Amino acid sequence: MQAVILSGGFGTRMRPLTHTTPKPLLPILNKPLIQHVIDGLPEVVDQVIMAANYKIDMLREYFDEIEVSGREIHVVDEPEPLGTGGAVKNVEEYLDDTFFVINADIISSIDMKDYLDFYNSKDCVAAISAWEVKNPEEFGVFELDENDRIIRFQEKPKAWEAFSNTINAGHYILEPEVLDLIPPGQKISMEREIFPQLIDKGFFGYNFDGYWVDCGRPRSFLKANKELLRKHQPETKNLIGERSVVDGELGEYVTVGVDCTIEKSNISNSIIFDGVEIDEGCSIYGSIIGYDVIVEKNVELEGCIVSDEMILNEGEKHVREKIMEE
Ligand code: GTP
Repeated sequence: MQAVILSGGFGTRMRPLTHTTPKPLLPILNKPLIQHVIDGLPEVVDQVIMAANYKIDMLREYFDEIEVSGREIHVVDEPEPLGTGGAVKNVEEYLDDTFFVINADIISSIDMKDYLDFYNSKDCVAAISAWEVKNPEEFGVFELDENDRIIRFQEKPKAWEAFSNTINAGHYILEPEVLDLIPPGQKISMEREIFPQLIDKGFFGYNFDGYWVDCGRPRSFLKANKELLRKHQPETKNLIGERSVVDGELGEYVTVGVDCTIEKSNISNSIIFDGVEIDEGCSIYGSIIGYDVIVEKNVELEGCIVSDEMILNEGEKHVREKIMEE
């Protein structure tokens, strides 16, 4: 079975980190986001098709270097970003039966095998994973009948217009016939232009429990770090990469990359990429620190993203800033 992973976006909300690293390769628990997504695929998926564009060479290099057990990976170029629908159409030649389409930036507890069993138990041409949120404003919203059939679909409604709190959680299962609805070579949104056409054709929603995080923004990226630390490091709720040295205790929900040196400092709810040096007396909270950053003594950071290779001078204080070279 094939899975298409949509991984061609610019990741503008994760800048400046995405100036140097495409969002699918940004690390959570010292593993690229995309690797968490691939690890969550059911065993039956033996071919992964990365629908890529932005910084595609870095994606190719990553998949050339790692061993992805038993799965063929194709990194397919999209000459220009074609939107979620156009991107799937662009990889049509790789698809020959029921297939998954997954956003590269979703971290969740969905059981993909159970989802596929659900799909196979219905008379489907398409299914979407469903998640409940308090405010559905930024999402695609849909309503299910008592048989989990989708009866209405609404893309990014205003809060007062939304007819339900069930949102599109970003994992689709589709039949190849859905591809016939997508014109080739055009920028097409799957959610806005294709899904509404599927309502009468056997279109279902699959609910699941646990956690769901769209890692599109720094705050949600940190939330994903938290959820994954809870799951994989339940005792310590932090993770220190190989060859890294940390003096003193880390606070909760901190991931430290490899080859870092951290002197006595207060750090919590943060992600520190590889090769970072943090001197003593620093206070770092709710922040993401890029590769090879140097943080001198007594620096205070709260809610910040720090670009790769920056040097923060002694005593600097930043609150809710993106710190990068002008
Ligand atoms: P922002 O620029 O911050 O909105 O991020 P983004 O470009 O990643 O967009 P968004 O988070 O809405 O995209 C959701 C998923 O779809 C991500 O995994 C993107 O990589 C992917 N994606 C978005 N647009 C395209 C596209 O035109 N082509 C392909 N292949 N993937 C896309």
